[in-house]
Formats: sequence, C-alpha cells, structure tokens
Amino acid sequence: MNEPETFEILVDGASITARAGETVLQAAARAGIEIPTLCHDDRLDPMGSCRMCLVEVAGSRRLQPACAWKAAAGMEVKCETERVARHRVHLLEMYLADHAAPATPEPLAPKNQVLQLAERYGATRRLPALEARREARADANPYVHFDPDQCILCARCVRYCDEVEAVSAITLAGRGAKTTIATAAQTQLLDTTCELCGGCIDTCPTGAMREKKPRSVVELAQPVKQVRTTCNFCGVGCQLDLHVADEKVVKVSAPPTGTTLNDGNLCVKGRFAYDFIHHEERLTKPLVRENGQLVETSWEIALKRAAEGLRGVEQRYGAQALGFVSSSRCTGEENYLVQKLARAAFGTNNCHQCAAT
Ligand code: SF4
Ligand code: SF4
Ligand code: FES
Repeated sequence: MNEPETFEILVDGASITARAGETVLQAAARAGIEIPTLCHDDRLDPMGSCRMCLVEVAGSRRLQPACAWKAAAGMEVKCETERVARHRVHLLEMYLADHAAPATPEPLAPKNQVLQLAERYGATRRLPALEARREARADANPYVHFDPDQCILCARCVRYCDEVEAVSAITLAGRGAKTTIATAAQTQLLDTTCELCGGCIDTCPTGAMREKKPRSVVELAQPVKQVRTTCNFCGVGCQLDLHVADEKVVKVSAPPTGTTLNDGNLCVKGRFAYDFIHHEERLTKPLVRENGQLVETSWEIALKRAAEGLRGVEQRYGAQALGFVSSSRCTGEENYLVQKLARAAFGTNNCHQCAAT
C-alpha cells in the first residue's frame, strides 16, 4: 500500500503534519518545534552520530535520533521528558570534557553550539577532561584554521566537503581518542583538491574549523553590522552577508541555509576575496583620456564621451562596426541592459559576454 503524502504524528502531545519521507526532526522543525542538534545540517545526509537530538518514540525501548528517524503515520514522539533531559545534560558534559573553549573567543566567530546548548540545558563541566588531546597541525593555507581541541568529531566538515562540494579534501583520520580531522595523506590543504570554499568552516558547530582571515583584521571592539548583498565576482548572483565594522568589510558569510538560492554555500572568491573593496588602487571615479593621460571626471562627462565615441563609429562605419562585450562579473540584469543597448540603441547583434563561451 502506498504511503499517504502527508499524515499526522504526535510531538509532545501536539498533532503535527509530516510529509512522506520526512524525518521527525524535519516535521518538528516545520511545525516550529525545536529539537537540539549538533551533527545535523539540512544540506547533508543524516549521520546520527552526535546523539544530541535523541527523543522518545512510543514503542521503542531506546531513545532515537530525530534527525535520522523517519516519521510514520500515528507515531508518538516526546522531546521534553525527564529521560531526554537527563540524556542531554550527560551527553553535553561528555562533550565539554573533550572540548576546550577558546581562550579568547574571536569577535566574528559563529556561536559555539556546544557551549550554547550546555548553558541552555544546565550542563556543567564536571567530568574529568580526556587526556588524549589531538595535536594541532600547522597548515599554510591562507583561510582555513582547524583547532582539534574544539572539535567534537561530528564530521559535518567532512560530509560537507564530500556531499556538497564533491571535493573530499578532508576526512576523519586516526582511531579512538586520537581521531581527528585531516587530509587523507596528512598533507597540507593546499596539496589536496581543496577549493578553499570555506564551507567546512560554515557548517562547523563549534568553531573548530574557523577563518584565519578576520583574526588579524578585527582587533577593534567595533559594532559589526551585516549587510545582505549580491556577490559581484560572477553572474551566478549568490547572496552574501557583508560584516561591516568601522565602515570596512571585515568578513563575508553566506546567508543561513534555506534562505537564499545559494543555500549557505559560497566559493573562495565570494567568501574570502573581499579585500579588493578597500584596495588603494581600486578605481572609485570614472576616468577619461586627456592628451594621452587618464584623468578623473564626473559620470556625466564619462558617459557622454562614451556615447559620442560609439555614435561616431556608427556614423562613419555603420552599426556592424560596433561590438559590445560585457562581463561575467555583472549581474544578469546588467548584462541584459548591455545587449539591449547594442540591439535597441545601435541596431547590432554584435554583443557577447565572456561567461557565454
Ligand atoms: S574549504 Fe571547502 S573544499 Fe576545502 S576542505 Fe573545506 S569544504 Fe572542503
Ligand atoms: S571540525 Fe567542526 S564540523 Fe568538523 S568534525 Fe570537528 S566539530 Fe565537526
Ligand atoms: S543531530 Fe541527530 S544524531 Fe546528531
């Protein structure tokens, strides 16, 4: 018999609608019920390794992971029982024992979810710390820093690199308490297929994977505001959030997963190459040539000069002597306007854009 497309399940006594194929976590999230997670990322296949999302499922003797447990018609789930609460506190205490909080939290680092959950559920650091600390390895890449002391081995970074980036540059390496995140051949990241997309940093729930870049830039305790904008490195049009302090962009992040079409993903240019914005050699005013020299001018004069030049060629040699080449760094709308200018204002189809080749 075919499973219905939607059905009801009971979560903490409330009847909610689940869709066929959904996990308990997904159905609960759509109904606004929050179940704590650590190894879960909407973009990745469930791994069920961190055990943070364990809940009671009627008919099951053991607690079950909501992130991997499929919802079924009539299922009864309890997320806030005494047993679940005890489990959460004990689990978090074990994570805290193997988890060093950063001595000086970075101003722009994302929140450490282990510490946040420990505070929310009242877990304190009372278990003795594990002795087998994993060694930090120096890596010369310019953007990604890995601190094994803060890693909880949730493997989100590894799975992101594999499932979303399809690069598989990093892996879980070693055994037992020595398990850590490393490249397969224990080389540096730059010696692998790593594209320095920074997605492993973005998905990491603890800050063990973090950006090298803002550390030196943001010593100042400036308020940081976020500005949503469109990346101008290529025509794909990814949305990104600029973090602005003291009128300077000090970091770029992807908007949260599920809120924009790029779904929390960025490439190395969009995420890390924002220095050009404040580069001292960047052109900030239009230039025109006067007696062989480029001199600053107003937009009005620059555009008038360009229009006169184009009309001059058209009048002397005809519209087919003109060609319009736009850039893959423009938005789709800007490229549309360039071809409109070529066709409607000058009557030529000679227009091209480098991303079209
Ligand atoms: S930066 Fe991107 S490609 Fe490199 S290890 Fe991280 S997720 Fe993989
Ligand atoms: S570095 Fe972060 S994302 Fe990767 S396994 Fe450790 S805690 Fe998880
Ligand atoms: S979030 Fe479900 S086991 Fe980690």
